[in-house]
Amino acid sequence: MLILNRKELEELLPMEEVLDVLAMGFREAKEGKCVVPVRFHLNVEEYQGQFLFMPALLSGLKQSGTKIVSVFPQNISKGKPTIYATYLLNDPVTGELLALMEGATLTGIRTGGASGLATRYLARKDSKILGIIGTGFQSFFQFRAIQVVRPIEEVWAYDLDSQRLESFCKRLSFLVKVYPASSPAEAVRESDILITSTTSKTPVFSGKDLRPGTHINAIGAFRPDMRETDDETILRSKIVVDTFEGCLSEAGDLLIPMSEGKLKRERIHGDLGDLVTGRKEGRHSEEEITLFKSVGFAMEDVVTAHLAYQKAIQQGKGERVEIS
Ligand SMILES: NC(=O)c1ccc[n+]([C@@H]2O[C@H](COP(=O)([O-])OP(=O)(O)OC[C@H]3O[C@@H](n4cnc5c(N)ncnc54)[C@H](O)[C@@H]3O)[C@@H](O)[C@H]2O)c1
Repeated sequence: MLILNRKELEELLPMEEVLDVLAMGFREAKEGKCVVPVRFHLNVEEYQGQFLFMPALLSGLKQSGTKIVSVFPQNISKGKPTIYATYLLNDPVTGELLALMEGATLTGIRTGGASGLATRYLARKDSKILGIIGTGFQSFFQFRAIQVVRPIEEVWAYDLDSQRLESFCKRLSFLVKVYPASSPAEAVRESDILITSTTSKTPVFSGKDLRPGTHINAIGAFRPDMRETDDETILRSKIVVDTFEGCLSEAGDLLIPMSEGKLKRERIHGDLGDLVTGRKEGRHSEEEITLFKSVGFAMEDVVTAHLAYQKAIQQGKGERVEIS
């Protein structure tokens, strides 16, 4: 069995290649060659945390594996990351364990990749200004992926936590012009593309501040009682989801307005697989506001983990251990 750590995954997984394998995975899923049960949530009420169990099998590509993720938002106050994760990659022919990988980096890279892929189809081609609300762990991967698909020249970032905002801006300042916004509204009004990557349960900006033509990637809220976008944003946007199954069981951004009769299921334009396979059109006009809502899809993990594994074997990276 091969063990791949955070640094090795970063080296093995350039975002361009991740976008390619994700596109391939979304095509396989559309063709029904992907088995991904809705993930199992195990709540840890006393610490406001959750474990998520995410298995996936891609029969055509002969890939399978499981991610075990913990999401503990209170960890910030302990100086620890919100998310810890481990990925177990198995051979679907024999069942044997091929690799164990650090799953938080894998998650960051594949979540960025999914936003990048959606942005390729949904953002205006001339998008240059990126807004980011929530500058935690995911945000840097989101930036990297958007940069691959659009020529980003400026970033406007906002976070409730001024220290996190400052360190994010410092990290980005070596790569691009970056401005700390004094409010979410300031970041939103500047943006061609907006990312929300927060742990908030309530909307993090007002849809009234969106300029026509903006594309939004809302990646944060992952439970029916959590949302980052308000009704105005939902009602003004063409909505694309990572998967219908996941978003219609977990995404409060959609489920809350649906339960209040403000959003109908038919108003959701399609899923990312529809865009990648050309079954549905992406952006239609320069003025349209588009929204990609993701909650995560275990297919994304397995194709990304498999890419890392193959490249690690080719390049002789990782640590080999025997546990049986
Ligand atoms: N869609 C997916 O596939 C996917 C994958 C991984 C993580 N996530 C989700 O993305 C979210 C962010 O993850 P992370 O690892 O970056 O978490 P994190 O805790 O590292 O960062 C979250 C940041 O959001 C900020 N924040 C919270 N509420 C805010 C508000 N109202 N306005 C501005 N900033 C606010 C916090 O201060 C923090 O800096 C989590 O909810 C996580 O579950 C989604």
